[in-house]
Amino acid sequence: MKKVLMVCLGNICRSPLAQGILEKKAQEHRLKLIVDSAGTTAYHVNERPDHRSVAKAKEYGIDINQQRARQFVEEDFLYFDIIYAMDRNNYRDIVLLSRTDDEKNKVRLILNHIYHGEDLSVPDPYYGGDHGFENVYQMLNQACDEIIKELKNG
Ligand code: 4NP
Repeated sequence: MKKVLMVCLGNICRSPLAQGILEKKAQEHRLKLIVDSAGTTAYHVNERPDHRSVAKAKEYGIDINQQRARQFVEEDFLYFDIIYAMDRNNYRDIVLLSRTDDEKNKVRLILNHIYHGEDLSVPDPYYGGDHGFENVYQMLNQACDEIIKELKNG
């Protein structure tokens, strides 16, 4: 069974949404997958996802309210097969913690699944309005469709 980790800065806005979306799609495709999320920082450890992410997920039939924020740890490189960074800073911060090429190669920018090779970031919606969360949802929804396709073929 493949294990996928979604990572952002605080683990309260983008990566909990990414986790919820991918879990739902895996269920719908009867694909056995372990999905988790983490943040590169400890700012929000043990908190529930941001209420705006919870509301956005709920709007699309996904319950992420039981998730709790945690910080990325080096052991995550051993347990997970693929580590998706939401933005370029997250990518850099995770790669800096990798100890081998094998670990480094597990890290990918999630939007490269849609915009191949462009190294685009999922914008941080924390300080913006509600539209930012819809935008993030749409991007992650599309990227997760591609992730499911790849996992089903591999
Ligand atoms: P996230 O969003 O990385 O998508 O969870 C943020 C959450 C918190 C902060 C920044 C971004 N913060 O500065 O506390």
